[in-house]
Amino acid sequence: MYYIGIDLGTSSVKIIVADEKGDIKKSVSKEYPISFPKSGWSEQNPKDWYEKTIEGLKELLSDIDRSMVKGISFGGQMHGLVVLDDNDEIIRPAILWNDGRTGKQNDYLNNIIGKERLCDLTANISFAGFTAPKILWMKEEEPQNFAKIKKIMLPKDYLAYRFTGVFSTDVSDASGTLLFDVKNRTWSDEMCEICGVSKDMLPEVFESFEKTGMLKRELACELGLNEVTVAAGAGDNAAAAVGTGTVGHNACNISLGTSGTIFVAQEECHADRNFALHSFDDANGKYHLMGCMLSAASSNMWWCDDILKDNDYSALQKDIKELGENKVFYLPYLMGERSPHNDSNARGVFIGMSMDTVREDMTQAVLEGVAFGIRDSFEIAKSLGADIKETMICGGGAKSPLWRKIMANVLGIKVKSPTTEEGPSYGAAILAMVACGEYATVEEACAKIVEVNGEEVPDFLLVQKYEDRYKIYKKIYPCLKDLYKMMSE
Ligand code: XUL
Repeated sequence: MYYIGIDLGTSSVKIIVADEKGDIKKSVSKEYPISFPKSGWSEQNPKDWYEKTIEGLKELLSDIDRSMVKGISFGGQMHGLVVLDDNDEIIRPAILWNDGRTGKQNDYLNNIIGKERLCDLTANISFAGFTAPKILWMKEEEPQNFAKIKKIMLPKDYLAYRFTGVFSTDVSDASGTLLFDVKNRTWSDEMCEICGVSKDMLPEVFESFEKTGMLKRELACELGLNEVTVAAGAGDNAAAAVGTGTVGHNACNISLGTSGTIFVAQEECHADRNFALHSFDDANGKYHLMGCMLSAASSNMWWCDDILKDNDYSALQKDIKELGENKVFYLPYLMGERSPHNDSNARGVFIGMSMDTVREDMTQAVLEGVAFGIRDSFEIAKSLGADIKETMICGGGAKSPLWRKIMANVLGIKVKSPTTEEGPSYGAAILAMVACGEYATVEEACAKIVEVNGEEVPDFLLVQKYEDRYKIYKKIYPCLKDLYKMMSE
């Protein structure tokens, strides 16, 4: 049978169809626009997500035996606020995960409600991109819109709602709202009260591998499909973890997409009392720790496309030979930063240039700056007891062998690439397989399906060199923190 995995990303929707052995039969991707109405704001129109997904599905299925399609599921950009009114109309554009407008509401939650209290209720503190501060922002800044809210949902759940008519979400994505009691896998009454929303505005919560409903009859007809089971799916990072086989205590995955994340699977729920990492539910019924940088592969894209006006990324990286000795450093805070600084005022910086600096040094600094940013979260995860021996890697940035090499040597661990690079959409298809009974558990599915294609082994001398560079990198942000604040006023 065939299973469809849909990854509702930030720049595009990526859709795959695979058989029960995990062999991908076809994949398509459709882009949609993102708007930055003000510095640090980031929005999308949920209708674009739906239309492009349907367009993509039609293309995907055009030469596929449609009668074989048995299940569909989703991975999706997390934390976005999608609000519908009484008639299920979208009230305003979705406010995305990398939007930093909620500085004031974020401060209120962290400093007035208090980080310890938030951690007790949700296992997390507030970060500007999370859903709860966005709800408070709407309440204060757009009271007419706020008064119209009947349903609050996450990006992929908007697709799921239109696909099934069931108002649902999954535990991993719900974890990133800050309205969710992660340890007990249920909405938090107190957080709802703090944010002024009632529980009936929130979707029913499922485990990621559970069936939520069936594809609506009229949509199935439009797509030429029979009865199709829809599984809850997961936030993109939890879905990518499934897609890369990152299951089992301390299993680790790094995703170099628009965001950069480090995901560490955990048996138990641990709130990070350093308040830097997220503590979320996993797509396999367990938990994970995660650090999230807001501009990872998007830093490289910005540097190459927008600044150098050259989108041949591998050509731009081809002359980079000397690693571990770059004098130029780059802070990847183009949209502010989430982990570990929780600072929406932070911005990108190059430092250390001299008259002999060439553009390869700057390109290299971008790749290294992102790796150092991941290292920040890696160090915190280790300080919480996570024994990370090696990691998987996925996402557009992971296609670069140079970036994988830098990552292995900055972290000092083996970096492995899966055979199938489509992390979140592949994970979503696997979740659909579990929901349809092809496999009893997510673990079993991963063990039977996911394979490793290659690995980057760290080099002792290079690790030492990067250790010295990282010591310098770590000192740059604290020097700029106050300046960032002044610059935002
Ligand atoms: C995770 C996060 C991002 C988005 C990007 O917390 O905000 O990884 O999910 O799609």
